[in-house]
Amino acid sequence: MEGERNAPPLFNLAWHSDFFWDGGSNHIDVQPIAPITNPVEMNEDVARVLAKLKRSKFYPEMFKRAFGSDTITTQAMTRAIAQFMSSLISANSKYDQVKAGTVTFTAGEQNGYMLFKAKCESCHKEPLMTDLNYRNNGLDLHFKDAGRARITLQPSDSGKFKVPSLRNVAVTFPYMHDGRINSLSKVIDHYRSGIIQSATIDPLLASGNMSITDAEKQQLLLFLNTLTDHTFLNDKRFSEK
Ligand code: HEC
Repeated sequence: MEGERNAPPLFNLAWHSDFFWDGGSNHIDVQPIAPITNPVEMNEDVARVLAKLKRSKFYPEMFKRAFGSDTITTQAMTRAIAQFMSSLISANSKYDQVKAGTVTFTAGEQNGYMLFKAKCESCHKEPLMTDLNYRNNGLDLHFKDAGRARITLQPSDSGKFKVPSLRNVAVTFPYMHDGRINSLSKVIDHYRSGIIQSATIDPLLASGNMSITDAEKQQLLLFLNTLTDHTFLNDKRFSEK
């Protein structure tokens, strides 16, 4: 079975106070319970996961080293996962190196950055590249998935989703909460020709499509590619092998 939402990439989570596209989980310590028990994700039972960890050859010893006891509790397990997730920090993209003054943008990237600041940055706010807010960026007239309104039950939140970080965005396709757009080029086309006005459209997009020329689109793409953090993506500590 497939889930109905696109899996978000995991990094820089310690700066978020709530999780998921709709903010349905508000603490990094309890967040891991949701995917464990969700029928379309792991469809597991926390007690069974704990039993598996207890039977394993190495986890009890690792829990003892980390928490002082080899009794594996739900709390110790969720803390361990939360601490691992908090350690996933992505902050060494070309963009970061430019900010640190160690390298410079090419002319095209620099133009793209200026366009980004003018047209995108109010929502995809630096340096996380998200303002951590819930907004409607004009994908639909009627939303199949109510987004933030599922949690707040406020009709005024219908169709609002958490602004995703654009860090590493060149490698995290497909895009949007339901993965409906499969390339960055088409994402930019959405902003320049596909904005749909609806009751909850973000005020920043209420005046309709953005004017972005073909040349500007290429520059924006060059800039978005500077957000890829190869140090993070190739970090052996975060790979399964
Ligand atoms: C009004 C706020 C707002 C503005 C302005 C805005 N965005 Fe977005 N952006 C969003 C929201 C909200 C989403 C997620 C929407 C969803 O999935 O329903 C999003 C999604 C995206 C995604 C998909 C990311 C992913 O991981 O799925 C990309 C890429 C993106 N925006 C790039 C841009 C670019 C480039 C600009 C400027 C040309 C821009 N955005 C301007 C709010 C905004």
